[in-house]
Amino acid sequence: MTGDQSKATPDLPAVEVLDQAAAAAELARLAQVLAEANQAYHGEDAPEISDAEYDALKRRNQEIEARFPALKRPDSPSEQVGAAPSGAFGKLRHRVPMLSLSNAFADEDVRDFDSQVRSFLNLGSAPVAYTAEPKIDGLSLSLRYENGRLVQAATRGDGETGENVTANARTIADIPQELTGAPEVLEVRGEVYMSHADFAALNARAEAAGDKPFANPRNAAAGSLRQLDPAITRSRPLRFFAYAWGELSEPLADTQSAAIARLKVLGFQTNELTALCDGPEEMLAHYRRIEAQRATLGYDIDGVVYKVDDLALQRRLGFRSTTPRWAIAHKFPAELAWTRLEKIEIQVGRTGALSPVARLAPVTVGGVVVSNATLHNEDYIAGRSSSGEQIRGGKDIREGDWVQVYRAGDVIPKVADVDLSKRPEGAQPYVFPTECPICHSPAIREPGDAIRRCTGGLICPAQAIEKLKHFVSRGAFDIEGLGARQIEAFYNDPDLPVKEPADIFTLQARDAANLTKLAKRMGWGETSVKNLWQAIEEKRKIPLSRLIFGLGVRHLGEVASADLARHFGDWQGLLAAVDAARPAARRYARIEAALAEERQKAAAEGRRARLKETEDQLWAADPQLPPGARAAWDDLIGIDGFGAVAALSLVTAFQPGPERDAIDRLVAELDPQPVERCAAADSPVAGKTVVFTGSLEKMTRAEAKARAESLGAKVAGSVSARTDLVVAGPGAGSKAKQARTLGIEMIDEDGWLALIGQAPAGPA
Ligand code: IVH
Repeated sequence: MTGDQSKATPDLPAVEVLDQAAAAAELARLAQVLAEANQAYHGEDAPEISDAEYDALKRRNQEIEARFPALKRPDSPSEQVGAAPSGAFGKLRHRVPMLSLSNAFADEDVRDFDSQVRSFLNLGSAPVAYTAEPKIDGLSLSLRYENGRLVQAATRGDGETGENVTANARTIADIPQELTGAPEVLEVRGEVYMSHADFAALNARAEAAGDKPFANPRNAAAGSLRQLDPAITRSRPLRFFAYAWGELSEPLADTQSAAIARLKVLGFQTNELTALCDGPEEMLAHYRRIEAQRATLGYDIDGVVYKVDDLALQRRLGFRSTTPRWAIAHKFPAELAWTRLEKIEIQVGRTGALSPVARLAPVTVGGVVVSNATLHNEDYIAGRSSSGEQIRGGKDIREGDWVQVYRAGDVIPKVADVDLSKRPEGAQPYVFPTECPICHSPAIREPGDAIRRCTGGLICPAQAIEKLKHFVSRGAFDIEGLGARQIEAFYNDPDLPVKEPADIFTLQARDAANLTKLAKRMGWGETSVKNLWQAIEEKRKIPLSRLIFGLGVRHLGEVASADLARHFGDWQGLLAAVDAARPAARRYARIEAALAEERQKAAAEGRRARLKETEDQLWAADPQLPPGARAAWDDLIGIDGFGAVAALSLVTAFQPGPERDAIDRLVAELDPQPVERCAAADSPVAGKTVVFTGSLEKMTRAEAKARAESLGAKVAGSVSARTDLVVAGPGAGSKAKQARTLGIEMIDEDGWLALIGQAPAGPA
């Protein structure tokens, strides 16, 4: 590596000769140079200084700090050992995504999981075997071996792309560098963690050296693995348990348990507490055994993971968007602690929601210091649920109260209970504000909504900032170097303001004249600014689903955004469809109300409700409804897993007005990428919209849907002019009729299986 030597290492005076002022100036310079070096440290990027220089500068920084401890800066590079800035590692795309697990909390959830597995597979009462093993509380890592040699190690990242930590993984003793008898390509997945004893010793060393201790073993493991300097990782006692796999050139075994046994033979650590169970009662018994040993295991676990043992069944069960259907994590109950609630504050979110937050006297809960907790909404504070029933025995929450807080996994801490015997005298019930604390617009609560919302829209700075933060967040535009902190700074910047997403993409042109000025204001080096411009440029080409999600429309999460993108394919198609559906959407609320009335009347008169006729009459009663509006609306709400609430929210967000103008300004800066009909493009149903109706006999509806989607088809819930194919089983009713009316191709289950290349089973 070569670099700009003069910048990093000018002729440096020895540390011993520095006076106080010179030392302060030198520490400031080192903080800046090292921060820039961290940013530039990408394998493929252009590192500015060599590793040796980097280490030398870091040592120099430490020596100066040791001589002048009072001068240590809040942004001292020596403090950043545990938190290498993200972006400091090269990125690696996972060839098989690294998914997370859905959670079970109660015994009943585990029984439900087993029933869902059996019903998805149509197994009746036949038992299914599962493995049960501890859920290790560390961070997951994927190790790629080619021809028996470790070639790559990647963190989970967002599940699709992780960080390249190969050099660091090589320093972990539990991770073999070479394997004998392994498949040609083998990706082993598991958890990196730190034992309690090693964690205590590491923190003792950190404290002796005057460094900040880690909050818990998980943070210590994450901080140690994500070190820019592998020598530091080597000095940290990390361990690794293997429990899963990614890409394979050949199967490891036929069952989960045999595959894990094979990983053990290959030289990986696997967990001794893994058991094979014959159904939910045995799984729960094993959960209790593991829970009883939790305190003496010597490492943190936060639950038990159950996995279907038969890998052929795992394949049939497949995946939801981010979790497998064949596994679930049964979490241990949350830990609890009591503390004083000092103040209730209101935060305003991107959709205007007023969220009350409890500011707490700091307290340790499950190894983490907690000083804030969510209070959900005004009903929750008042001691009732949104449907008006009492919670906490009707006890309200007041400032000054003694409250019990809990954490479950990574979720935000919550308040579970109030100790009335400790309520300070004179404490008053909390009065929830009816105006926005930021922009002072009225804050109103729509009927049926638990949340009070600021009506200021984009004129409310809090909403605008939160929308921007959401826009740059991970699942959305994910712009490197532009996080929540920078968004706030830009929002308030008098010369280069960013008030709406489009402004991000005009920043560079607006700043062309004064790059250095911006750099100074943000406390950045010029390289950081250039990197930011590049990161922004890269995101002009944005996948459609990320663009939709980034707009921050209420009820449009990542899954719904991806569903929409898949359904419409490109931005123009989506926009045209939403605009076409709008007149019908306005009518829809009235029609729903009329249908509810007809249902009630019919029930009272003891007759069948005439829903279809009522609905058709009501649609026909509006002569102004443009042709095609109803079909466009039906198509929108028919998108599987979407529904009227999300559709209404989308139609409203896109209606002409200031918010739509802001969206149009944004899209004018972008090049939204149409949805690729990827791997499944050559399947005969790729890109087709399919509706299943009636009863299926060879597979469940859920399995049929999952299979169709994996072949690139869109599965809709209702038949419309956009439907390409209807698969009708016995008992198909109105949907089959509708398909005949519209002249849509209709086939039976066997026809479907033949079409997708799974020959129907012959007569027994
Ligand atoms: S299986 C397809 N097994 O939990 C899912 N995960 O909440 C593969 N984890 O990201 C994961 N112990 O980091 C599995 N025994 C175990 C685990 C485990 C810990 C973590 C893992 C995963 C997270 C999901």
